[in-house]
Amino acid sequence: MSGSERKRLDYENKVILAPMVKVGTLPMRLLALEYGADIVYSEELIDWKLIKSIRRVNDVLGTVDFIDKSDGTVIFRTCDKEKDRVVLQIGTCDSTRALKVAKMVENDVAGIDINMGCPKEFSLKGGMGAALLTNPAQAKNILTTLVNNISIPVTCKIRVFNNVDDTLHLVKNLANTGISAIGVHGRTKVERPQHPNRCETIKVIANALSIPVIANGGSREIDNYRDIKKFKDQCGASSVMIARAAESNCSIFRKEGLKKLDDVICDYLKICVDYDNSPNSTKYCVQNMLKELQETPRGKKFLECQTLEQICSIWHLGDYCRQKQLEYQSKGLLSRREVTP
Ligand code: FNR
Repeated sequence: MSGSERKRLDYENKVILAPMVKVGTLPMRLLALEYGADIVYSEELIDWKLIKSIRRVNDVLGTVDFIDKSDGTVIFRTCDKEKDRVVLQIGTCDSTRALKVAKMVENDVAGIDINMGCPKEFSLKGGMGAALLTNPAQAKNILTTLVNNISIPVTCKIRVFNNVDDTLHLVKNLANTGISAIGVHGRTKVERPQHPNRCETIKVIANALSIPVIANGGSREIDNYRDIKKFKDQCGASSVMIARAAESNCSIFRKEGLKKLDDVICDYLKICVDYDNSPNSTKYCVQNMLKELQETPRGKKFLECQTLEQICSIWHLGDYCRQKQLEYQSKGLLSRREVTP
C-alpha cells in the first residue's frame, strides 16, 4: 500500500511512547504497543546516518531494516506490527536532508517527527534539536518541506521558552506550516528533569492551537495509568507522551495497572529474542529498568552477561533464546552475539 492509501495517523486523545535514544528501538516500541500505547516514537535518528543506510527486507525476522553500509549495524528496524503506529523522529537542521530521510521511510512508518527539543551539545552545535527553537525560519522551512512533499503526517517536538508569549508565538508559527500535531516538553532548553514541568504553559498552548497538543514532561508525577489522565487534564492537552516512566516500567501503558518489573523484563526479553536485538542494546534497556537493583547479587550477575542468551538465562528464558537463535541461524540469519566493550 502506498502512503496515501493508508489510514492517516490520528494524534487526538492518544497515549504515546516518547522518543528516547537507545531505548526507543523496536523491542521497546512493540512492548509499549502490547501494553496499550497508541503511538510509539522511535529514538532520534540523525539525518545523515539514515541517508548513508540501505533498506533491506529481513525475511527471517519479518522486519524492514535500515543498515549502515559501512559496518552493517542496524540503524532502524521496524515491522508490520507497528507500521501504522510508529513515528520516526529525525534529528536535522536541513530541509533537503530531512526530506531525503522522510522519503526513504515514508512507506514503512506512520509519521515523521522533527526533534526541536534536544539540549545536548552535539545537537545544538549542529543546529539541530533545541537550536531550531531560536531559528524559526529554518524550523518552518524543514516542516513546510516535509508537509508539502510526503504523504504521511509530520509533527515536531519542542521545549518551551521561559516566557509564555514567546512560546506561543513560536508554536503558532510552527502550527501554520500544516503539521498534524505538536509535542511539547514543558521545560526550557536549560532546565533538567528535576525541574518542575511547566504544565500551565502547555495548557496555554493547547488552548491556542487547533492541532492536537501532546503534553510531555510529566514522568516524575506518573506512577500509574490514572496519573496519565491527571497529567493530560492538568495540561489541557489532547494527548500525552511518556518517556522516563516507560523507560523504568513500560507497563505504565496498561489500563489494568503496572506489571511486576521481572514480568516486564521477561516480556521485553522475549521480544528482543524474537527480533534479534543486539546484546548491547538489550542490556542497556534492562539496566535502565533495574536501576539500583543492579547492586543486588542477581543484578551483578546480569552486569557480567555478554550474550543475549546469558541475559535471558537470568530470567529463565535461556532455552527460549537458544532455540530461537538456532532457528534463525538455520534460516541464514547472521547476527552479532556479544556485547561490545
Ligand atoms: C530522552 N528524550 C528525548 N527526546 C527526544 O525528542 N528525542 C530523543 O531521542 C530523546 N532521547 C531520550 C532518551 C532518554 C533515555 C530519556 C530519558 C529522554 C526526552 C524525552 O523524550 C522527554 O521529552 C523527557 O524525558 C521528558 O518526558 P518524561 O520523561 O517526563 O515523560
